[in-house]
Amino acid sequence: MGDDVKTKVSSRIPGFHRKPLEERRDLVAERLADELQAHLASGDVLPLEVADRMSENVIAIHGLPLSVATNFRVCGRDVLVPMSVEEPSVVAAASNAARMVRLGGGFDGDADASIMTAQVQLDGVPETERVAERVAGARDGLIAAANQSIPRMVARGGGCRDVDARVLDAASGLVVLHFYVDVGDAMGANVVDTVAEAVAPAVAELLGGEVGLRILSNLPLRRTVRVTCRVSEEAIGGAELAAAIERASRFAEADPFRAVTHNKGIMNGVDAVALALGQDWRSIEAGAHAFAALGDGYKPLATWRHAAGHLEGRLEMPLAVATVGGSTGVHPGVRAAFAILGVTDARELALVMASAGLASNLAALRALAGEGIQKGHMRLHARKAELPSIRRRAHDR
Ligand code: MEV
Repeated sequence: MGDDVKTKVSSRIPGFHRKPLEERRDLVAERLADELQAHLASGDVLPLEVADRMSENVIAIHGLPLSVATNFRVCGRDVLVPMSVEEPSVVAAASNAARMVRLGGGFDGDADASIMTAQVQLDGVPETERVAERVAGARDGLIAAANQSIPRMVARGGGCRDVDARVLDAASGLVVLHFYVDVGDAMGANVVDTVAEAVAPAVAELLGGEVGLRILSNLPLRRTVRVTCRVSEEAIGGAELAAAIERASRFAEADPFRAVTHNKGIMNGVDAVALALGQDWRSIEAGAHAFAALGDGYKPLATWRHAAGHLEGRLEMPLAVATVGGSTGVHPGVRAAFAILGVTDARELALVMASAGLASNLAALRALAGEGIQKGHMRLHARKAELPSIRRRAHDR
């Protein structure tokens, strides 16, 4: 994907949001290969014949704005972040927060290898107390059987890394096996579904019982990403505001009613990048909220602390994202968005998406803890209210 980018970018483009749309597009497009430049300029991000092959019963194209968030610096590299979202103020807020964060060095973080989980359900397994021992004894053979079913993934350096079992209900013999598969730069659903179906007979032979579901889990606990950032009191707007943002974080940490809205603000950023880049946002959403609810109640995915003149933010979440497969190679708009972003692998993409989530969260908390959300939000919503007259003018011409 990085090959499409002609030059190293600076994501700091002062006054970007005030330029006319065509000028913004040309500024971003000039960094891309000619074919993608032409593509962006044509405005035809999804030809009908491609759409017709992507889904069923297609009758038209459903459009969303393709925006670019500025100011992002992630793990030492400037990135222009494509975002697609119907809600006004999300892109502006993320860009604004990223500008504050870059003053402190930008976002930092690390992402796990792309390990997805395949689940195989068995019912009526006898002697459930011996399941763990039996699976451990057969571990190498089970991993080999899994790998036999995905030779191309193994050739690319991926493959099954581990297997374990959980007894969910000893009385009925309900047991689930997890196969942990490195899916490289793919999202991995097809790969792990293949594994789950391929190994099920061997699993039933080993443990007895009747095979049930064979499918991935959308809670990829071994595929999480962590990002942090540090913002000075000065950059955030003063010590009082920094302290208020920590108080807002503690509110979310103590109350699921607040935590879910706090997390929705994070997903404003994560989902917008996911949509622009053709990712499976339903799986990302499902995984994020399950992760938030894993421990002692539903918790915020990101937290903030104010200490020693700084505000420190930290986010952790599972992110099963892809730079290959799915719509990434098919949808021309998605290809252009990838070229704008210029990431080389799925882990790098996860770091950018998590950074967009943390930026969105910071922007929301800063507004909520300060002047309130409505003032800035409503100013940007007001632009949308002008739309009918804009449309009428275009029609009159
Ligand atoms: C609105 O889309 C998102 C917020 O509600 C997030 C939050 O409350 O933290 C502003």
